[in-house]
Amino acid sequence: MLKNFWYALEFADKVGRTPRQVRCLGQDFVLYRTESGEPICLSDLCVHRGGALSMGTVSGDCITCPYHGWQYDSNGVCVRIPANAPERAIPRKARVDAYPAVERYGMVWAFLGDLPEEQRPPIPEIPQWADPSFRAVQYEMVVDANYERTFENVVDASHTPFVHGTAFGNPDKPEIPDFRVRQTDWSAEADIPLSPPPPKGLWGLLFRGKELPDFVTVTNAWYLPNIVKLHVRLPIGDLMLYDFNIPLSQDRTLIKILGFRNFFTGGWADGNTRKRIEKILLQDRPVVESQRPELLPFDLSDELHVRSDALQVAYRRRRAQLIKDGWWVGGDDVVTGDSPRRRATVLASPARHDNPELAAAWVHKARQGGDPR
Ligand code: FES
Ligand SMILES: [Fe+2]
Repeated sequence: MLKNFWYALEFADKVGRTPRQVRCLGQDFVLYRTESGEPICLSDLCVHRGGALSMGTVSGDCITCPYHGWQYDSNGVCVRIPANAPERAIPRKARVDAYPAVERYGMVWAFLGDLPEEQRPPIPEIPQWADPSFRAVQYEMVVDANYERTFENVVDASHTPFVHGTAFGNPDKPEIPDFRVRQTDWSAEADIPLSPPPPKGLWGLLFRGKELPDFVTVTNAWYLPNIVKLHVRLPIGDLMLYDFNIPLSQDRTLIKILGFRNFFTGGWADGNTRKRIEKILLQDRPVVESQRPELLPFDLSDELHVRSDALQVAYRRRRAQLIKDGWWVGGDDVVTGDSPRRRATVLASPARHDNPELAAAWVHKARQGGDPR
């Protein structure tokens, strides 16, 4: 799992004035909005006795812990301890990690890491969000597989005729001609030629009397740390899926999807689009859940790659570099409790840089959630 990235944690319309718990990288966070509507992301672990702030209440721009009423401002600084006399100072260590948060493309994103602003990788662009010719739907599903397995599955074109039948390609013509990968530090994209499905059903209807092309182009892309784009050109228009593979833990993934289409753009077709997305995911789910080893190997040579796996190989190479740079979650980020089964991730936020004397001070080790390993 990679830190120091912007993670889309929740659909923006699910985040309001009521605190909402979300999980990512094995850590719990609380999301809420300030009075002016800005999204806030704090560690969901009260520094006093480990209460879950997400069970508390928001007033003004502050959140109050449900247990003893400690109140934290939107920077995670404790501003009120009700049991203390008013003249008693609030300890400097009384704070929780606050992660930079923004709303973009209908998602609330939080920067999970401690890099200063100018060093943070970008949030990928999703131009369809602001394009009125596209209609968006949301979808989500939890899968019992590692997020890098589900992430690679979406950019993997050669599985489609085997797992998805004739939805995108032709099981009788599974060859994939060579394609070029366009790569940046944070993304990779390729136009991949697939043989179109046999001319039956919708394809048959739309191509009646015309010759089917030898290949149709599917554009697949990944954006670090966990987003995959799938652009399918159907005879009636474009379907673009952005998949956010959110690592709840090492072996459990929440897949959130923004699906865009520029055909049948009335709300009446939303249910049908969601059903199609669900059908694809339900076909992929048993396959990714059965993959062994469960976690993606660190060494490229631990699995066998062929030409059509170029996008996944590009990801694994880039990931190896980031691991070398220290961006992999582990070591200091993982807190072990009183038994080996009680481990949790606690990611440092940018404020720890500005307060070095507090660097490890406000990590509460008592309450630990699921096993992130
Ligand atoms: S546990 Fe949060 S105020 Fe005591
Ligand atoms: Fe698939």
